[in-house]
Amino acid sequence: MSTMPEKALNNLATESRRAKPMNIPFNIPFNNDTTLGSVLPPSFECGSLFKGRYASKVHQFFKEKYGAQEVVLTASCTNALELAALLLDLKKGDEVIIPAYTYVSTANAFELRGARLRLCDSAANSPNIDLQKLEALLTPKTKAIVVIHYAGISVDMYRLKEIAQKHNVFLIEDAAHAIDAYYDSRRLGSFGDLSTFSFHETKNVTSGQGGVLLINNAAFVERARILRDCGTNRHNFHLGLVDKYTWIDVGSVFNLSELCCAYLYPQLANIELITQKRIQLWNNYRDGLARLANKGLFQLPFVENRCEHNAHIFYIILKSRKERDRLLLYLKERGIVATFHYSGLHQCPYYQGKYKKTKLPYAEICSGNLLRLPLYFDLSFEQQAYILECIGDYFEAPKRRRHSANAYLAIPLYLNPILEEGAMIANVVKSIFPFIA
Ligand SMILES: Cc1ncc(COP(=O)(O)O)c(C=O)c1O
Repeated sequence: MSTMPEKALNNLATESRRAKPMNIPFNIPFNNDTTLGSVLPPSFECGSLFKGRYASKVHQFFKEKYGAQEVVLTASCTNALELAALLLDLKKGDEVIIPAYTYVSTANAFELRGARLRLCDSAANSPNIDLQKLEALLTPKTKAIVVIHYAGISVDMYRLKEIAQKHNVFLIEDAAHAIDAYYDSRRLGSFGDLSTFSFHETKNVTSGQGGVLLINNAAFVERARILRDCGTNRHNFHLGLVDKYTWIDVGSVFNLSELCCAYLYPQLANIELITQKRIQLWNNYRDGLARLANKGLFQLPFVENRCEHNAHIFYIILKSRKERDRLLLYLKERGIVATFHYSGLHQCPYYQGKYKKTKLPYAEICSGNLLRLPLYFDLSFEQQAYILECIGDYFEAPKRRRHSANAYLAIPLYLNPILEEGAMIANVVKSIFPFIA
């Protein structure tokens, strides 16, 4: 019969759970084979690998669900943003407002076309832009406002649209994160004159790499059809409107191959299922971390009432970069790959020279203190419980976190109270038990 008190036995049970750290990557791309029964749809044919039946199905999905005037499939969201920037036909001196806290492609697309970028700070409660600060950046030279929907969560889209209309500037949604996300029951990606999505392997639906440009403003449709086909009028040729096609404008190849579309389409057809599972995981994180957040240890994502997000990312914002990095390391030692996200564009070497005096405090907080947790369709609830347990341990057994996971597991339980006295005593113990790492 054991002579250990019950509490110690309970501890042992907890310790033994900790003794089997799991290996949890930050992302696993959606797997058609395991979830939908085949890598490619059985009806996939090699007859046309450039634009075939699945390219046409993806095209139709965006036309119908988003009500877009035109849909241009692209090799990536970056590629779609580049086409959007070409369509703006920017002239010297034109300004484009973009978030400071975003992926570089949001900036590069317009920088490449010679725009003067104006960087907007994040809001105090969200990585998304602050609408009040945005208004202050508008000038008679502003040609467009570009926003992202960070983590599939948007700002107040009515107010944003009102600002764009009042100042007569184009609105572009970089909706890379926002497939199947809504604002007031309307799909994100259907508000802007132009909107872009990403199908990179880190996104909710994926073709490995891929993207799409939605054109919601009819004024851009005709030129988009020319630019996407290397600047030729091939579209009109196919319609029989011209008897040969030729080069009439600048352009490039903007397309997503049939093979990619055949991988992507089954996911689009099952998007509700995908979003539903992700939302369950996202809600578990939110609920599981609420108590610690209420203690003021970190900030949870802010979701405005009218937003119906798609659980693209679960993030927390810690109190300092040091705390964020410490937690990242702690999780890594336990086999969990969490990660940070963007650097504020004004903090990057390329832009630093141009924006030396720019202070964007909330974007800087996101760069330094934001941490993303693993979230993907195949993440199991058991794995997620382990992640939550480790985060709980980090905050609630603070002295324990000074020791590496391995050292901890190698030490008999009865030494724990001694270890908790601090690093100095731990060193003494280590000198007595030299086998401890
Ligand atoms: C906000 C945002 N825009 C654009 C992109 C670029 O997407 P892609 O990798 O499809 O080019 C990303 C990448 O993750 C992103 O986060």
